[in-house]
Amino acid sequence: MHLESIRLVQYKNYTKAQVDFSPQINCFLGDNGSGKTNLLDAVFYLSFTKSADQAQDLQCIKHDHDFFSIKGQFAQDGKKRVVLCANQVGKKKQIKLDDKPYKKASEHIGRFPAVLIAPNDTDVIRGTSEDRRKFFDAIISQVDQRYLNNLIAYNHALKQRNSLLKQFAEDDRFDKDLLEPFTRKLIELGMLIYEVRKDFIEQFKPMLLKHYATLSSKKELVEIVYESDFQGNIEWAFADSLKKDLILKRSNKGTHKDEFVFVMDDQPVKKFGSQGQQKSYLIALKLANFDFLKERLKVKPILLLDDIFDKLDDQRIEKLMAMVASEAFGQIFVTDARPERSISIFNKIKQEHRFFNVVNGEVQLRESKT
Ligand SMILES: Nc1ncnc2c1ncn2[C@@H]1O[C@H](COP(=O)(O)OP(=O)(O)OP(=O)(O)O)[C@@H](O)[C@H]1O
Ligand SMILES: [Mg+2]
Repeated sequence: MHLESIRLVQYKNYTKAQVDFSPQINCFLGDNGSGKTNLLDAVFYLSFTKSADQAQDLQCIKHDHDFFSIKGQFAQDGKKRVVLCANQVGKKKQIKLDDKPYKKASEHIGRFPAVLIAPNDTDVIRGTSEDRRKFFDAIISQVDQRYLNNLIAYNHALKQRNSLLKQFAEDDRFDKDLLEPFTRKLIELGMLIYEVRKDFIEQFKPMLLKHYATLSSKKELVEIVYESDFQGNIEWAFADSLKKDLILKRSNKGTHKDEFVFVMDDQPVKKFGSQGQQKSYLIALKLANFDFLKERLKVKPILLLDDIFDKLDDQRIEKLMAMVASEAFGQIFVTDARPERSISIFNKIKQEHRFFNVVNGEVQLRESKT
């Protein structure tokens, strides 16, 4: 599977753009603010039906306009597939595959998988446990629809249990029988979520460790530890926490409290990792994400590498490029604000690659490879 071409109309800083891609490596070069990330974001949109940068759909419309569209032509199993994503002010978002609208946008997820590595976005490392749960939930949900449904049902039950706790506080009363069904629901659904997360981490961990070891030439040893209330006696945990739940008016036990601890040489990466080490850990997480999807979906996801070279030393850049230029990966999109760096890196590898100049919301194939 690869993206043959894209057509943008009024997406972010693009008025109109049409680009034909290499099935292997595509490298976008240009000054800060020229539109490199926006172009990768449009490819991301075709895969996930949303922007990667948390922007609301309407914020993606070019300023002073009232709609945008992104049309991508994919080659998949010898067939051409056309994905169209469009948004207009005041209208429902449109996602179409070969001119047919989906009933639900979520049906599209996982069909044209992509993995974005934007190492400047270290939220998953430096942010809260919720950022990490979201990261892993997004990966698992792409391969397991039932997990996603359980997650949605769990969050619904959690909301109901929490509002009941608030109600008790307001009314200054407590009714055990009223709370019980919601506690049951959280325990039942939570157990299903826990089992999937536990199995997932077991498969994911060797992938992560392998990529980190390659990237760092085994300079540091990393680990990932999954912590959950469900590892202990969950019935007891809920019973024990009841008093606290009533005082704080929210549920303090459950899979919504799960944590994934990222460790490097026995220390938490979040606290003690250097900027370059944190980026390396993030890149290894994303490459493992890639491997996991590849194994489960039986296709190579599109790999989007945004500003990947900054903050990595030359040796790590070289390892990374050797890795992504190997057979293991499929189509790749890369951005770099320093053309000479990318040109010298990619001219050393044998894969077909195209360079594009991005200037002020316009993309041009760069004829010369120097
Ligand atoms: N809805 C929008 N309408 C018009 N312009 C927008 C919109 N959204 C973002 N932009 C602009 O697009 C420009 C290009 O952003 P982009 O992040 O793609 O640049 P870049 O080439 O990746 O730069 P850098 O090298 O700094 O990463 C920014 O100046 C931003 O203000
Ligand atoms: Mg950028």
